[in-house]
Amino acid sequence: MRVLGIETSCDETGIAIYDTEQGLLAHQLYSQVKLHADYGGVVPELASRDHVRKALPLIQAALDEAQLDAADIDGIAYTAGPGLVGALLVGACIGRSLAYGWQVPAVAVHHMEGHLLAPMLEDVAPEFPFIALLVSGGHTQLVKVAGIGSYQLLGESVDDAAGEAFDKTAKLMGLDYPGGPRLAALAEQGEAGHYKFPRPMTDRPGLDFSFSGLKTFAANTLAKAEQDTQTQANIARAFQEAVVDTLVIKCRRALKETGLKRLVVAGGVSANHELRRQLHDFARQINGEVFFPRAEFCTDNGAMIAYAGAQRLAAGEAVDTKVKTFPRWPLEQLNQP
Ligand code: KG4
Ligand code: ZN
Repeated sequence: MRVLGIETSCDETGIAIYDTEQGLLAHQLYSQVKLHADYGGVVPELASRDHVRKALPLIQAALDEAQLDAADIDGIAYTAGPGLVGALLVGACIGRSLAYGWQVPAVAVHHMEGHLLAPMLEDVAPEFPFIALLVSGGHTQLVKVAGIGSYQLLGESVDDAAGEAFDKTAKLMGLDYPGGPRLAALAEQGEAGHYKFPRPMTDRPGLDFSFSGLKTFAANTLAKAEQDTQTQANIARAFQEAVVDTLVIKCRRALKETGLKRLVVAGGVSANHELRRQLHDFARQINGEVFFPRAEFCTDNGAMIAYAGAQRLAAGEAVDTKVKTFPRWPLEQLNQP
């Protein structure tokens, strides 16, 4: 079965074709970073309009890349939520309409399920069951995954997501949007041991997270610090260490509580080098395994949506002809296939 995947939940237009026998045949990505840079963040209406401009040309480009015609596509998967409602509607309308025109089934994919399954696109893919750490701009969640569609939320952020904390702290430091990767790059230049940030909510039991205090701590630290680049880099490093440490502590706890030794990390922040290093070390220590998507599939992309949709379509799931989106959509409310 060949599935066209469409991702338009935020500021990336991602299109891909996944074949359940042959794997990924094509993937195309257009990032709107430049469009939003002047505003310091994503402007929802501009995002929607740009998806309208880019989605169809990218679908054609993906078909060309895979050397396929529309008639070769057996199903369509589009992100139906969570995300920006206008942006989601673009992908949902295009996906549903193409499915109608091409007379193939369509399926509505949950964006975080897409992230969660992204490591399945790699040569060495995780087996079920596993613990997933989902760390993006909108979510920080620990999920026990028994199989496709079987997701138990173990803990999540009670305020800012990890990516959001990176972005907001980067903004405080005067770094351009998108701040997360820029702050991470600056942190690589920093020296350890100059500043100590708290590890929020690690001193009490449970698997929830809270990252908004780190941003305030960063603001106070910056206000008192020298303005030179090395000092900024030292602060960036201390901030990153605090986020990474906190994530590692909670992953350790989740594995211990569930008795599992397999960890999957996905979402934009899973591209972070320090997080990858620390989690690799940790997995080695406990004789466990950790899986990440390749760097380009950590952040939003169409491949993860095509993959997740293909699993659901292959299980016989499909949506009716109504175009529906779910800007807020708890992962646990996904129907069990
Ligand atoms: O998954 P994603 O592309 O979009 C959402 O679904 O939110 O994640 C984007 C988030 C942003 O907050 C971005 O700053 C963060 O992931 N991010 C990073 C890195 N690369 C992306 N955060 C820390 N270090 C990175 N290398
Ligand atoms: Zn995402």
